[in-house]
Amino acid sequence: MNRKTIRWVIEDPQKKNVFWPSEEMKKRAWVSDESIYEEAKKDPVAWWAKLAKEGIVWFKEWTETYRWDPPFYRWFIGGKLNISYNALDRHINTARRYKAAIIWEPEPVDEQPRTLTYYDLYREVNKFANVLKSLGVKKGDRVGIYLPMIPEVQIAMLACARIGAVHSVVFSAFSGQSLRERMVDAEAKVLITADGYYRRGRLIDLKKNADIGVEGTKIEKVVVVKRAGNEVNMVEGRDYWWHELMEDAEPYCEPEVLDSEDMHFILYTSGTTGKPKGVEHHVGGYAVQAYWTTKWDFDLHDEDLFWCTADIGWITGHTYNCYGPLMNGATILIYEGAPDYPAPDRWWQIIEKYGVTVFYTAPTAIRMLMKYGDEYVKKHDLSSLRILATVGEPINEEAWLWYFNVVGGGRCPIIDTWWQTETGATLINSLPGIGPFIPTVAGRPFPGTSFDILTEDGKSAGIGEGGYLVQKSPFAPGMLRTIYKDPERFKKQYFGVYGEKYYYTSDGAYYYDEMGNIRITGRVDDVMKVAGHRLSTAEVENAITQHPAVVECAVVAAPHDIKGEVPVAFVTLKPGYKASEELEAELKQQVVKVIGPTARPDRIVIVNDLPKTRSGKIMRRILKALIRNEPIGDVTTLMNPESVEALKEKIGYKGS
Ligand code: WT7
Repeated sequence: MNRKTIRWVIEDPQKKNVFWPSEEMKKRAWVSDESIYEEAKKDPVAWWAKLAKEGIVWFKEWTETYRWDPPFYRWFIGGKLNISYNALDRHINTARRYKAAIIWEPEPVDEQPRTLTYYDLYREVNKFANVLKSLGVKKGDRVGIYLPMIPEVQIAMLACARIGAVHSVVFSAFSGQSLRERMVDAEAKVLITADGYYRRGRLIDLKKNADIGVEGTKIEKVVVVKRAGNEVNMVEGRDYWWHELMEDAEPYCEPEVLDSEDMHFILYTSGTTGKPKGVEHHVGGYAVQAYWTTKWDFDLHDEDLFWCTADIGWITGHTYNCYGPLMNGATILIYEGAPDYPAPDRWWQIIEKYGVTVFYTAPTAIRMLMKYGDEYVKKHDLSSLRILATVGEPINEEAWLWYFNVVGGGRCPIIDTWWQTETGATLINSLPGIGPFIPTVAGRPFPGTSFDILTEDGKSAGIGEGGYLVQKSPFAPGMLRTIYKDPERFKKQYFGVYGEKYYYTSDGAYYYDEMGNIRITGRVDDVMKVAGHRLSTAEVENAITQHPAVVECAVVAAPHDIKGEVPVAFVTLKPGYKASEELEAELKQQVVKVIGPTARPDRIVIVNDLPKTRSGKIMRRILKALIRNEPIGDVTTLMNPESVEALKEKIGYKGS
């Protein structure tokens, strides 16, 4: 095996498992000088203005860099730009014209991959932008995108961006009902979907779900990509084949001149209620932060091949599988299928085959692949790798070290990026040329942004002291501007805890050391991270209580070796219904139908009685402690303390 010996990191001479960039890494990295943190801090607004000018092509420069009318903030006011221009037009008169923009690997191993050069992508996006126009889509209109990981997804997003339409991408594994709920809220006019796709060798009939999703919405036209060739139902006058519309489309579409604060996209994410929030991102600030975080966090150069494994249905897919790298003129790899199909080494085989240099994935995937054993990794030459990165949930030390030693051969830094759908792009992580790289420690805030960790009484926490992670003004340019059609919820959710000066993240954290490196401990609200996917307990409860047998239901997150967390549902039944394995299976299936397979409860616990306060509120705290085998605390104030004993027996509680 040809394992090259370039070491991109060195171990700290004093501290075990603390790593720093090597000389080779520093030489190569876009940023390697610690002083950028200080420089940015002096005047963060001026710092972002400088980055905005250097990174993005503006049709017209802004007149005011930052304005804060709490709780709202605006960036690059009066500036004019177009993101698709920045991702495509700016490259096609340079040497990048014929460079690969997207390499697509299908799941079936006997199928041919596809490569689109920047020029190919430019042509497709222009044509599809004209298709959208011909379907009546105008600036500001919402377009739903419900597609698997195929290049048409980037084409569709960039085409929306080109004409100033607002896309709302819905994860293809979400159910038809979930799609409908989002399309209704977004008041989408057009939906772009596909006939089907492959997942673990199975054909998924996406169009069938899309049809459910369109019912009862304002969607007038549906564009269907022919991906899998499965038979689908096409509704006359509503449904059109993508390839047929593209045949007659004009090859050029003038990019719309957009305002920095025009809406760019809406992406729904789970909050603490049953109703997903439409996180609203605007053009200018998002473009700037997406551009620079991609360039610096992943240290992307022209010769790199960047593989971010996130699905486009999540914010990570938007920013690092589309806008960020394409604005940087990088080559991205996208893969349609499952990490372990047809064998547990599929990902490693892909890295070797294409020579991936920067690899970005989630801790849950690392843990899953770690379980299969080292031999699957060691079968492949992964010497092309230079940087490894993670996102989505706290990474445990064991998974970090395995990723570092086995996948990276001890040569590559691990960039642990903390961020959220709301922040649009990464915010807390070490930079490859600066470091340090420490298991379970994300790092410092991106230069030009500032955070604090506050205790219950609103004081800055000391080193090692737990608290709540908050962001301070000037808020990063890529931050959400509001919740679509719900500014009150925006205000309450993000600025209702410590007041309008502090964006509340809902994450617990602590300062790890004097340098200000931050360790994230995880969500402090009723939001779960299930295999990296964000889900609210309330959404799962809503799905289960729709079943006719159910009276009440409480869902809590239980720890899980691979997925990090999994939903466990406690359920009481209506008279006439009996607990059975069939009913448990039915309730699990109910969740799959309403939300999608990612939300499937790991366990359904059917009980006679749920622990409640005297005012009748279910005590989720007790259920959580029970499922985690943690001490339960005082139960004497409950309305029904005896319910706890019954529960202990039922779930085999091992705590005290
Ligand atoms: C939540 C946001 C941002 C892209 C994917 C997730 C958790 C995210 C990390 C990390 C510890 C992390 C937080 C956050 N999270 N990255 N590196 N270390 N926790 O986006 O679905 O909006 O979820 O994911 O709890 O609040 P999201």
